[in-house]
Amino acid sequence: MISIAEITDPALAVTLADLGAATFSRTFGHLYKPEDVRLFLTEKHSAKTYRDLIIDNQSAVWLARDPGGEAVGYAVAGPCRLPAPDMPDNSGELLRLYVSEAARGAGLGQRLLGHVLAWLEARYDPIYLSVYSQNHGAQRLYKRYGFEKVHDYLFMVGNHADPEFIMKRKRQSSGEYA
Ligand SMILES: CC(C)(COP(=O)(O)OP(=O)(O)OC[C@H]1O[C@@H](n2cnc3c(N)ncnc32)[C@H](O)[C@@H]1OP(=O)(O)O)[C@@H](O)C(=O)NCCC(=O)NCCS
Repeated sequence: MISIAEITDPALAVTLADLGAATFSRTFGHLYKPEDVRLFLTEKHSAKTYRDLIIDNQSAVWLARDPGGEAVGYAVAGPCRLPAPDMPDNSGELLRLYVSEAARGAGLGQRLLGHVLAWLEARYDPIYLSVYSQNHGAQRLYKRYGFEKVHDYLFMVGNHADPEFIMKRKRQSSGEYA
């Protein structure tokens, strides 16, 4: 059984940086020039980036480990910093959701998303995320959890601008989520 825990130990930043860089490179690396990947990994998947997220009390980081202790997935959430139009003050964001290739398709992504949404719902409303326009699998997953596309957006990978969708999940008037 794969375990999921919210992590607070900054020493785990190196584990997250390794996992983040490996999952991004293996999943999306072929789409970009090597120098853009290198720049992006240095900016967004360094140990310092993850250390800052772990110690930031407005954000949270979850790590999934297999029974042998190997890191096989992670998620990050916090206040929304996306350029979404008319974004309410207290908006939250699912910043990252990754499962290593070998562990995909067995429900771990949905389990991680459950932890993230419970944490975000207790603190923020509405909740946003951004997703690559061609990542149809992830978009299917997010739509099942009530996210809808609200905006087009250009996401920088190094010096490469990628078309992404900003998606939003809004609390319903009944207090339930869509
Ligand atoms: C998206 C992701 C976290 C889902 O994790 P998972 O453990 O494979 O997902 P689960 O088994 O819980 O759920 C399966 C759902 O994930 C989505 N999915 C499946 N394979 C996928 C893939 N290769 N890429 C993206 N999403 C995928 C589908 O919606 C699928 O449901 P479906 O089979 O009914 O269509 C995982 O596939 C992943 O890390 N993909 C690469 C990174 C990524 O796209 N992250 C999201 C960036 S916004």
